[in-house]
Amino acid sequence: MDINGLEKSIVFIGFMGAGKTTVGNLVAKKLGRKFMDTDEVIEKELGMPTSQIFKELGEAVFREKEKSLITSLALEKNLVLSLGGGAFLQEEIRTACLSSTFVIFLEVSFESWLERVNLIIDSRPVLQGKSIEEMKELFEKRQVIYANHHLKIQTDGKTPEEIAHYIIDKMR
Ligand code: S3P
Repeated sequence: MDINGLEKSIVFIGFMGAGKTTVGNLVAKKLGRKFMDTDEVIEKELGMPTSQIFKELGEAVFREKEKSLITSLALEKNLVLSLGGGAFLQEEIRTACLSSTFVIFLEVSFESWLERVNLIIDSRPVLQGKSIEEMKELFEKRQVIYANHHLKIQTDGKTPEEIAHYIIDKMR
C-alpha cells in the first residue's frame, strides 16, 4: 500500500470530533503534503462559521458547496483532506473519493466520543438540541456510510501522534 508512490490524495472521514483535522494535519506534515479541512474552506468562502451557514443559508447550501468542493479536490494529487462528518452522505462525494483518493476512516466508539462531546457541541449544528439517545441514533446511522473506506483505524485511547504514526507505517 504505497500511497506515497501512488500520489493519491488521502481523505479522512469519520464522525464529528473523531480527530480528522488533528490527525490529518499531522499526517500531512509527516508526508510533506498540503492539508485542507473542507469545512474550513467552505467557511472561508462564505465568510461565516458552519453553524451560521446552517442557520442563515440552510443545510442544503452547505451540502451543495461540500459536494462541488470535495468532488473537485478528489481529483487533485498529493493532498491530505479532512472531510466534514456528513460529507459521505452524498453519493457523488463517496464515489469521487473512493475512486480517486485513499479514504481513511477514523473510528471512535460512542462511549469515547461522548466523553468529549462538550468540546465540540456548540460548533456542530447537527447536534444542537439532541438528546444523548438521538445523538447515539445519528452516530449509529453514520457508521453505515463510513463503512465505505480503504483503511479503518480504531482511535479509542490513542493519541493523534500515535494514530498518525500508525497510518504512516501502514502506508510504507
Ligand atoms: C457535519 C459535520 C461537521 C460539519 C457540519 C456537518 C455532519 O464537520 O461539516 O457541521 O453532518 O456530521 P466535522 O465532522 O468536522 O465536525
